[in-house]
Amino acid sequence: MKINFYSNNKKISGSNLYIYLKNKSLHKDLADINKKNKSYINRALKIGKFNFKEGNFLDLILPLGSKNDRIIIVGADINASNKQILLGNLGSNITNFLNNKKIEEINIVLEKKYFNPKEVALLLLGLSLNTYRFNKYFSTESKKRANHLNKINIYHEDSLKIKNEWKRYNAIKEGVFFTRNLVSEPANNLTPLLLAKEALSLKKLGLKVEQLDEKKLKALKMGALLGVAQGSVNKPYVVTLEWRGNKAKKSMDYAFVGKGVTFDTGGISIKPSGGMEEMKYDMGGSAVVLGLMKALAMRKTKANIAGIVGLVENMPSGTAQRPGDVVKSMSGQTIEVINTDAEGRLVLADILWYAQKKYNPTKIVDLATLTGAIIVSIGQEKAGMFTNDSKFAEEVDKVGMEVGERVWNMPLDDSYEKDIRSDIADMKNVGSGRGAGSTAGAIFLKRFIKESIWMHLDIAGVTWAKSDKPMIPKGGTGYGVRLLDELVYQSHK
Ligand code: BES
Ligand code: MN
Ligand code: ZN
Repeated sequence: MKINFYSNNKKISGSNLYIYLKNKSLHKDLADINKKNKSYINRALKIGKFNFKEGNFLDLILPLGSKNDRIIIVGADINASNKQILLGNLGSNITNFLNNKKIEEINIVLEKKYFNPKEVALLLLGLSLNTYRFNKYFSTESKKRANHLNKINIYHEDSLKIKNEWKRYNAIKEGVFFTRNLVSEPANNLTPLLLAKEALSLKKLGLKVEQLDEKKLKALKMGALLGVAQGSVNKPYVVTLEWRGNKAKKSMDYAFVGKGVTFDTGGISIKPSGGMEEMKYDMGGSAVVLGLMKALAMRKTKANIAGIVGLVENMPSGTAQRPGDVVKSMSGQTIEVINTDAEGRLVLADILWYAQKKYNPTKIVDLATLTGAIIVSIGQEKAGMFTNDSKFAEEVDKVGMEVGERVWNMPLDDSYEKDIRSDIADMKNVGSGRGAGSTAGAIFLKRFIKESIWMHLDIAGVTWAKSDKPMIPKGGTGYGVRLLDELVYQSHK
């Protein structure tokens, strides 16, 4: 989509869109857009029973000889408390409206006294996030999910400032789209090798990207990750990405670690076939890390950031690991693999360890579609948050509320430790009982954290949307990119 920014709106023609805020007058430009049409517009507002609730639209084709073909008036009630979300949702509603009318180009005319540059950028983010489509596998045009809107002209006095603000939000949009594309891609076309190649493509943004192949992973003694991978003909990879926004500082402010199981059959502990196709998105954590690194690099964050993704395919085969196998992780700790379907934590165990060893980051955040149990606990509205630092929990919770990617703090205290005790190894990979399955996974991961401030986000419920939501067309959501970008931005820019 092309977005242009203009400060002078005297000469525009075509279709104009105005946003009419509750308790505020209609745009002055609209009021005198065409003296002849003023009473026509006022009459339409009255007879059309226009009110200012969000989502109220008035669409007018103007009479022949008018300066504009068409004007669209949108009512919105944007209050201060959750402005960011309201602006995004408003933008998203505007996209839906314009697409329903098959409108390809729109002039959006905004007054400085009602919308500051950052607010306009947030509106644009919501607008553009909702134009996302994953159409690449339709061979006929008519089957594609249409997006007609392809050009937006913003008219606002501070157009230069908006253009500048948009640089950041455009980077976020690009990151989210990158994540959505990866999550949507079927597993036959996104093996660990192909996903590693996608990560390597980010080099062009100035990121340092390194790919570790099976030989190197063996040399590093990543026995837990390799055990998961051994059943598949598609070889495993670990990819590290580095961004140094603060060259004066050596260490990393954050390491983001992602589970990248390109397909999870469950392995020998095989999953039931119904719905198994969804397990193509079991690399969702790695996709968020890659989309986030893309966004952070594009907007040139001032922070030092590392990204680490563990890419494997979990398959049943003659070479697959068996329930009861004992593997030795890179940390030296041994694991009894009771259930080969609890594979994500085995992958994370080794890459969390590696991330700390290589980068010694101040904070480490992992993202993983780790447990079905998190969906049972909190559904698809929020990610499960597990952390060893309560201040960090508060910080992330607050950022989540601001951007509309919510988290929910889940238990992680030592009382759950006994759940993963094994009779023959340092731990087992699943809990003993049937309860607290997501915490069992998190408690397992905690054994691989040395002293960093650490957070685990279980994103199994939020990675895929079965129906459209504001800013999220159904499919891969990109959840996490906006949350973590804002987290980094608020502390480091
Ligand atoms: N990838 C799954 C979790 C998952 C489920 C993600 C639904 C997205 C949607 C994970 O590897 C898994 O299989 N977890 C098991 C853990 C169990 C064996 C302890 C589960 O949730 O059943
Ligand atoms: Mn699994
Ligand atoms: Zn999995």
